Amino acid sequence: MLADQGATIERASGHRLEVGPVLVRDLSKPRPGVDRSLLTTDPERVLGDPSVAAVVEVMGGVDPTLGYLRRALESGRAVVTANKQLLSRHGPELLSAAEAAGTEIRFEASACAAIPVIKVLRESLLAAEIASVVGIVNGTTNFILTEMRRRGRSYGDALRLAQELGYAEADPTEDVGGADAAAKMAILSSIAFHSRVLLDDVPYEGIDRLQSEDVELAAELGFAIKLLGVACLIDGGVSARVYPALVPADHPLAAIGGPDNAVLLESSTVRQIMLVGPGAGGRETASAVVADLLSILGTHRGSFLHNALADAGRPIVPPALVESAFYVRLQVTDQPGVLAAVASIFGEQGVSIRTVVQKGEGESARLVMVLHRGPEGRFEAAMERVSSLDAVNGEPVALRVLGAGGGAATAL
Ligand SMILES: NC(=O)c1ccc[n+]([C@@H]2O[C@H](COP(=O)([O-])OP(=O)(O)OC[C@H]3O[C@@H](n4cnc5c(N)ncnc54)[C@H](OP(=O)(O)O)[C@@H]3O)[C@@H](O)[C@H]2O)c1
Repeated sequence: MLADQGATIERASGHRLEVGPVLVRDLSKPRPGVDRSLLTTDPERVLGDPSVAAVVEVMGGVDPTLGYLRRALESGRAVVTANKQLLSRHGPELLSAAEAAGTEIRFEASACAAIPVIKVLRESLLAAEIASVVGIVNGTTNFILTEMRRRGRSYGDALRLAQELGYAEADPTEDVGGADAAAKMAILSSIAFHSRVLLDDVPYEGIDRLQSEDVELAAELGFAIKLLGVACLIDGGVSARVYPALVPADHPLAAIGGPDNAVLLESSTVRQIMLVGPGAGGRETASAVVADLLSILGTHRGSFLHNALADAGRPIVPPALVESAFYVRLQVTDQPGVLAAVASIFGEQGVSIRTVVQKGEGESARLVMVLHRGPEGRFEAAMERVSSLDAVNGEPVALRVLGAGGGAATAL
């Protein structure tokens, strides 16, 4: 991409970019189109070369990457990285190292690959006072959920298809378990709220325990189930989490199908801005990496804004205090008084019921409820009591509902 677009880059920035030494682990591996004289297995050839102005890191992982990037920044070189694993754990210290050395680190590709969401947040919307960031930030899970909903596939079949098409890794745990989305939400909420949010501050659930039955029931009730990253400000604190949630069919995020990503940004100033596009892929990711290099060329010394801000010192809001609406599915013994008992437990915790659907199946019945918003701590307390009722069989299913009661993401 740098070679193909070299002339355009030079016209736009006045700089000619040249690729310097390239660190690899295995010199004998075939690498079509790569000038082999640039390859090295010695990190010193990259980190110790005074002619290297910017270091691009696309090898992933935390070790030895953190040490390499710290060294690059401390020696005054700019860094561009696609590494969400590293940024979501050590972002603030890398930003500080860049600041201290008077250089910068850019990491657009680390969240949603080709979608320029970080640039939009840190530059275009810097003064827009972002109130919430709600996104479909993992393409693998969005592909699986789309296949389950639109084609009635089971979770296992949809995952296998995703693997065949290259949308899922052989070991899909990071994606389907929610950790990949949580890393991206840590990065996006840090940038949106100018504060330190690390991976450990983002509780996450994936879609690996989701059942086809709930995807179908949700569709009957007028919702699509999506794996959402939800970050918002609550009384000045940051709440950032990842979970599968019911999204109303007419909500813009419900329409995002297949492996695409989408991020909905909300602020009282700009209302809603949604960015949609490919959240993975080699050339897609490269596009964001090259864009970061161009930003560095464009801002170097002229400086629009060197490093992203991360000094607001906002507290992290405990999940029990966050208000959410829930969908609940219970398997109950079909006998009089069960619904009343369940309703009274929710009532005692101040959680009110919006919709109830009961489907009889002989001795047993399925009770499906959509609840109004309330503090999650109260909902959890009610669910603990509901689960222990004699008439409730098996493990209840509970999923959050997007925007219920308010329509906006901030109403979660
Ligand atoms: N792929 C995407 O769609 C995507 C999207 C957004 C962000 N990212 C991020 O981009 C980074 C790379 O992802 P990827 O999918 O391209 O991974 P990948 O296919 O595993 O490529 C990583 C490359 O880095 C090399 N490498 C790893 N450790 C190294 C070391 N210690 N020294 C030298 N070379 C080393 C590997 O070399 P070997 O060939 O020897 O294994 C491999 O060529 C990750 O941080 C990922 O999160 C990827």
